[in-house]
Amino acid sequence: MARDFEAERVNLRHWDEVAPVHGQAYDTSALLSGGHRLDPVQVAELGDIRGKRLLHLQCHIGTDTLALARLGASVTGVDFSGRSLEIARDLSARTGLPARFVESPLFDLQGVLDETFDIVYTSIGVLCWISDIDMWGRLVARYLAPGGTFYIMESHPFMNVFDDEADGLRVRNAYFPSGPVEWPADFPDYADGSYLTKNPMLEFQWPLSRIAGALIDAGLSIRFLHEFDFIHWKALPAMVCGEDGMWRLPEALAGIPLLFSLKAEKP
Ligand SMILES: C[S@@+](CC[C@H](N)C(=O)[O-])C[C@H]1O[C@@H](n2cnc3c(N)ncnc32)[C@H](O)[C@@H]1O
Repeated sequence: MARDFEAERVNLRHWDEVAPVHGQAYDTSALLSGGHRLDPVQVAELGDIRGKRLLHLQCHIGTDTLALARLGASVTGVDFSGRSLEIARDLSARTGLPARFVESPLFDLQGVLDETFDIVYTSIGVLCWISDIDMWGRLVARYLAPGGTFYIMESHPFMNVFDDEADGLRVRNAYFPSGPVEWPADFPDYADGSYLTKNPMLEFQWPLSRIAGALIDAGLSIRFLHEFDFIHWKALPAMVCGEDGMWRLPEALAGIPLLFSLKAEKP
């Protein structure tokens, strides 16, 4: 599949629209009081990032970027939504956490950012906006210095097969890609359900083999690929929240992957 410029235009309108909604709805209290809300699995899997030059792809309003800065990395966040980055810069000033934010569509980044990093990071809700997964893999590799590592934690593509409005597990969508799927406007925003979005979105589905394959084909070596039976939000109606704040399917439905993480290295 080739880069889809129309999907990018449609999706940019959506993200610029919801950025201020998320600026209000995201919980930034931990960041503002000296902590962070990056989940412990990511923190452990990333390892020691102190002093590392880190590039965060699709950083949105910068909450995770600034959490990574709090963990000691020297951070650069990239996003195509200027309104998201206004909030990110404001949050950087209010927390006193230094960060550089670059406004650019991912696939135009090479025109504005010419350096490499020790770590390229991206997480949660990012791959469904990527229209060409092979181009994405090459972009990740382009920004890694030799010996640098790429880390991603993302919702598991297999979970997307199930109807997110059905009580049990009902198959609704294809696992393999078949072009972008349109989510209409008037849809409750994920961070503030009382806000109905005005702009539609176009989302892409990438199977795990295509995600890992894009990185392998770009010359990276996969260090680990982990799958989890929990996720950070109520992605399917049957999910219940555990004491750790993670959502899981009840025992009768459990047994499908909901989240994955992957670490790869540039030789
Ligand atoms: C769900 S958010 C990022 C996830 C992050 N974990 C969070 O919750 O803050 C997805 C981000 O991808 C950005 N995005 C989508 N398509 C993009 C593209 N083609 N180039 C750059 N950024 C893009 C959006 O602007 C949005 O900020």
